[in-house]
Amino acid sequence: MKLGVFDSGIGGEAIANSLRLTFPDAEIISVNDHDHVPYGNRPQTEIIQLTDTAIQPLLASNCDIIILACNTATALAIDSLRQKYPTQKFIGIEPMVKTAAKLTKSQIVAVCATPATLGSVRYHKLVEKFGSDMHIIEPDCRSWAQMIENNQVNYNVISQTINDVCDQGADVIVLGCTHYNWIQNEIVELSAGRAKVIEPSESIGKRVKQLLDLS
Ligand code: DGL
Repeated sequence: MKLGVFDSGIGGEAIANSLRLTFPDAEIISVNDHDHVPYGNRPQTEIIQLTDTAIQPLLASNCDIIILACNTATALAIDSLRQKYPTQKFIGIEPMVKTAAKLTKSQIVAVCATPATLGSVRYHKLVEKFGSDMHIIEPDCRSWAQMIENNQVNYNVISQTINDVCDQGADVIVLGCTHYNWIQNEIVELSAGRAKVIEPSESIGKRVKQLLDLS
């Protein structure tokens, strides 16, 4: 089995590592677009074009599945890519609004994601479908992906944001950008006893098994 993993930057490595654990015998090829990261502050047309260009090596390698390990590329580009490459199987990643709705007791949830994801039609549909009974806080995380990519994380900024959403009553924090997986431990620590932190890497493995009919 050959799996292709794409992200604008190092967020995809977090997902690829988790897939390597789930599928030790699979060939996992991972590509990114370090020259153009972050995608999250760019318009949709650019995100589509950049993602399309960046996944060409994965298409050329005949991957069984291409995983867009990027919430931003999924939100803005997966529909066009599916249309353009109808025989290629794609899996995308989306903020876990549905899971958050099941877990929250306070009915207050924080979704940490890029501006492009939060402004996308796909995300709004997700919220409409699963999040209409809860209050969703969307803190400003626009600088996070770049900080993480460059290994220059300002933990004061992260801590202020996480404390702020917890103070507003959020009991679930959704990591809606794969870059944030690299600071997940810090976020879990900052919100300990107040909020659960969720991200979808585990469910991607399940989706791969489903799509390829593996049990
Ligand atoms: N890792 C990407 C995501 O999951 C976005 C980072 C970026 O802004 O490029 O949304």
